[in-house]
Amino acid sequence: MKAKVNQEDCTGCGLCVEICPEVFQMEDDKAKVKVDSVAQENAENCKKAASECPVEVISIEE
Ligand code: F3S
Repeated sequence: MKAKVNQEDCTGCGLCVEICPEVFQMEDDKAKVKVDSVAQENAENCKKAASECPVEVISIEE
């Protein structure tokens, strides 16, 4: 599974990093995905982060 953040529209709220720090990190007030592919054990949290992002800029690719 892969995750992607559309950084242009990310508001930098930091929720994704709070929910899933294994996959997301803040960089210059925007979230970025720090892993090439999401490990199985982080998949659930990563999907949760994507669905809870207030501006829905996290996309998931299976
Ligand atoms: Fe940005 Fe959404 Fe995360 S706004 S900081 S990608 S929760």
